[in-house]
Parts: sequence; structure tokens; C-alpha cells
Amino acid sequence: MIDTTLVVNGTERTVPTEARTLLVDALREGMGLTGTHVGCDTSQCGACLVHLDGAPVKACTILARECEGAAITTIEGVADPDGTLSSVQQAFQDHHGLQCGFCTPGMIMAAIALLRDVPRPTEAQVRHYFEGNICRCTGYHNIVKAVMAASGQVVEPVGA
Ligand code: FES
Ligand code: FES
Repeated sequence: MIDTTLVVNGTERTVPTEARTLLVDALREGMGLTGTHVGCDTSQCGACLVHLDGAPVKACTILARECEGAAITTIEGVADPDGTLSSVQQAFQDHHGLQCGFCTPGMIMAAIALLRDVPRPTEAQVRHYFEGNICRCTGYHNIVKAVMAASGQVVEPVGA
């Protein structure tokens, strides 16, 4: 085991890692940040999406030691310190962008990355961007609505 230091949600954290330890396991098991989920372990589902130095990455596809010294943002670092939800989280709540919620952390991290690059995406751009995030519950409709709403664009009310 070798210590690996990451700056997670603004705080420096050091965890023992093996050469094979994945970033997602360092976060979940090493740091107790279980909001980052493992849905497939084969780089398909996006449930493990976090931001690595600001860029979205699937944390099951990268070794923890490769991230030494990097800034990682997980779903636990998205809301304000007082618990106020971010605009993307609030939009998911308002537009019923989740059912079981398993995919939701990855969806929210993806949405934040998309809206940072494309502040007012078209619906087609949102759907294309979410190709790497699988939701087994919702059919995506309300997820897309939530992302559109978070971008400040008008969406149909829930149920319409
Ligand atoms: S657990 Fe990483 S993409 Fe599914
Ligand atoms: S809300 Fe259940 S997998 Fe997406």
C-alpha cells in the first residue's frame, strides 16, 4: 500500500492505495464518499462520474494513483456547505429527474459539466451528452427536462 493524496471537494485527503485501486474505490471505501456509485464497473453506466481537475471522468476507469494531487469533485461537494442544493440538484428535484436515484449522482455531475461548457444546450445536445449515463428507471424524459430547466430554459410542467 502507498498513500495517495487527493484534493476532494476542496479538502486534502490521503488514503492508502494499491496499484490496482480504482479512483471510485478510493472515494467510496477509502474516504466514505458513497454518493459516487458503481453501476457496472465496465465504463458504461456513468453512475461513477466525478470531476477530475474540472473534467468529467468515470471514476471506475482511472486508477487512484494516477490522480495523485488532483482536484476531485464528487456529488458530496456540489451543494452549498449549508445544504442548499445547487441549481442542477434543485432542477432534478423540481422536475422529478429521478426515481430510484442510483444514477442521479452521475447524472448531476454530467449535467454540471455540460452546462459549464454549453450554458444553454438544445434538447438534442443534452440527449447526446448523456449517452454515457444510463438510467434504468425513468426513460430520461424528466432528466432532460431537469437539465433544460437548470440551464434557465422553459420546460413543460411535470406531468405535461
Ligand atoms: S461504474 Fe463506472 S461507468 Fe458504470
Ligand atoms: S433513477 Fe433509477 S437508475 Fe436512474
